Amino acid sequence: MKIISFENDRLILLDQRKLPHRVCYVRIKNSEETSDAIKDMVARGAPLIGITSCYGYALGCIEKVFASSADLIKHMDMVKQRLLNSRPTAVNLKWALDKMEEKFNSLKGLTQNEIFKGLVDTADNLKESEIQANEKIGEYGAKLLKKISRKKGKLNILSHCNTGALATGGWGTALGVIRSAFNKGIVKMVYVDETRPRLQGARLTCFELKEAGIPYTLICDNMSGLLMRQKRIDVAIVGADRIASNGDVANKIGTYMVAVLAKYHRIPFYVAAPESTFDFNTPEGDNIEIETRDEEEVLFIGKERICLEETRVENLAFDITPQKFVAAYITEKGVIKKPDELQ
Ligand code: MRU
Repeated sequence: MKIISFENDRLILLDQRKLPHRVCYVRIKNSEETSDAIKDMVARGAPLIGITSCYGYALGCIEKVFASSADLIKHMDMVKQRLLNSRPTAVNLKWALDKMEEKFNSLKGLTQNEIFKGLVDTADNLKESEIQANEKIGEYGAKLLKKISRKKGKLNILSHCNTGALATGGWGTALGVIRSAFNKGIVKMVYVDETRPRLQGARLTCFELKEAGIPYTLICDNMSGLLMRQKRIDVAIVGADRIASNGDVANKIGTYMVAVLAKYHRIPFYVAAPESTFDFNTPEGDNIEIETRDEEEVLFIGKERICLEETRVENLAFDITPQKFVAAYITEKGVIKKPDELQ
């Protein structure tokens, strides 16, 4: 199933809001529609929103005819800012757009169409290199899990949110590790946190695990503590939206609770993420902006309102897990204990 593609000057995104019941696509023609698709979570997951924004940036270059190169440059500054503003927490967005801007600067002087083609090529390359990074993360992670399984046998793994191909464009980060470990025959069961309020675990992770033939069991977000206490979880693996230079991790709301519980129960808690998720400009987790989303996401399940009209809601989409709870980071460059080891 195609997750993201670019054909005939249109960005085509699998509409993740409709999964698992409907497989349908959204066709996007400009940077504004791209930014809206990221905000509305047609495409989501830190690496995938980075890649999506690259194509949105490329589209920005042909959405008008520009009288001068100065006009085009001004417009592309606005396009970059518009895309950056679509979701604040995942650093992959900035990482990807900085690369696109660098390419744009190197193409100045060419025609609009030539610049557009150069930008689309860069977006394609970036997508491919992110998917390759995922495969590497999978290899390193599976080796790490193999060591644990020598002592414990086949592993019961806890997963949070969706960190699979749907979140990255292909293979996945934490779910990529699970895929690679499954291929080595060391996965007994994946316990999938449903991940309220958007239910990425229930809707997307279960869907991907089923497609891959990996055994899974869906649990409510508030069940993992009991499973850990009952010694039914051997390892927890999550992805990340941003990793500060001290190693604090911003990830889907609920991750922090999993990490603290895992530490208490002496269960290794791993963060799987590509280099593009590490933000050396942000010293620590408390400096990371946490996205607040619409209260309707909490007030409703599907189309049904579940509480009284006057109910007040706080809907923070991510939380911060301090570095001390992370056993290791699984990256495409290897398994590391501190972000510094990447530099
Ligand atoms: O709000 P989402 O669905 O974009 O949040 C996604 C997550 O929190 C993932 O865990 C994270 O982006 C890592 S995905 C490889």
